[in-house]
Amino acid sequence: MPASVSTSPLQRLRRLRVSPSIRNLVREHDVSLSDLVYPFFIEEDINSPIPLTKLPGISRLPESALAQEVRELYALGIRYVMPFGISHKKDAVGSDTWDDDGLLARMIVTIKKACPDIVVIPDICFCEYTDHGHCGVLHNGDVANDASVQNLVKQCVTAAKAGADMLAPSAMMDGQVVAIRQGLDAAGFEHVGILAHSAKFASAFYGPFREAVQSELDGDRKSYQLDYANGRQAMQEALLDEQEGADILMVKPGTPYLDVLANLRKETNLPLAAYQVGGEYAAIKFAALAGALDEQQVVMETLTGFKRAGASLIVSYYTKQVAQWLN
Ligand code: PBG
Ligand code: ZN
Repeated sequence: MPASVSTSPLQRLRRLRVSPSIRNLVREHDVSLSDLVYPFFIEEDINSPIPLTKLPGISRLPESALAQEVRELYALGIRYVMPFGISHKKDAVGSDTWDDDGLLARMIVTIKKACPDIVVIPDICFCEYTDHGHCGVLHNGDVANDASVQNLVKQCVTAAKAGADMLAPSAMMDGQVVAIRQGLDAAGFEHVGILAHSAKFASAFYGPFREAVQSELDGDRKSYQLDYANGRQAMQEALLDEQEGADILMVKPGTPYLDVLANLRKETNLPLAAYQVGGEYAAIKFAALAGALDEQQVVMETLTGFKRAGASLIVSYYTKQVAQWLN
C-alpha cells in the first residue's frame, strides 16, 4: 500500500455499534404494545374455535368466547383491538351492521363490558355481511358509491352507540370519511375518532383474510380499491381523507407499500398507521414453520420497519405473539 493512502475514515460509525448498550442509546425506533392493534375474528352461532388454515395460529372464535378472549388479551398488555365479525345473517346490503342487536354492535358491547379500558376500533365495512361479498350496495353489478356511503354512516352510528372508541372504515368509497364524520357529529358522537383506511390497495395479500371471514366475493375490488401501481393516487386518497376529517391515516397492506407510508409522512401531520395484512402474516408464519426464518426476529424487524417508515401504530395479527414475547 502506498504511504499516501489514509486508513483513517472520516467518520467511524462503528463507534456507535460497539456494544448493546451503546446501540440501544442511539436506536431511533422501538416497538411496544402501545403501537399495536390486534385484529381478530368472531363468528356468531358456532360452539368451538375454527382454526384458519391460511393463517396458522389464528382461529375464528365463537361469539360466546369473546369476553374471555378479551380478558386474556388485556392480561397480556394488549389495549387496542379491531374486531371482525363473521355473519350468519348476510343479505344484499349488509343490514346486520346497522342493527343495534346485530353482530357488530354485540361484539363492541361485549368487549367494552369485559374490559372497559380496551380501545375498540372495529373495521367498518359490508363485505363480511353481504351475500355477494362486496364492500357496499350493488347496482348493475358494480358497487354504488353514494348509497354505500349512506349505509356506512348508519353502521358507524350503530357502532358508536354500542361503545366503539374509534372507527376504521375500509370500504374505499369516495366521500366516506366526511359523511361518517358528519353523521357521527349529528348523532352526538363528535368524540369518536376515524382511523381511515386511506390508501388501501387491491391486493392479493388479502387472500388469507377472505378465507378467514368466509367472504362470498367472486371477482375483485379493483373498481374501488387502489391500483397497486399508483403511489401518487395513494397520496391523493390519503390527503382527501385528511381534508374530510380523518384522525389517523392508514396504508394497507404494509410491507409492499412502505414508500407510500414514508411519502405520506412528509405530507401530513396526522398520525399514520400501517396494516400488516393476512398475507404478510402468512408469508412469515409459513416460512418460520418451514424453518427458513427466525420468526421473532423477522417479525420485530418488519414491525420496526413500519415505525421507521413513519407509522405511529400498526395493525398486526402478530400482536398477541409480540405481547407474549415482550412479557
Ligand atoms: C375489507 C377488508 C379487507 C381486509 C380488512 N377489511 C380486505 C379485502 O378487501 O378483502 C384485509 C385484511 C387482511 O388481509 O388481513 N373491507
Ligand atoms: Zn369490505
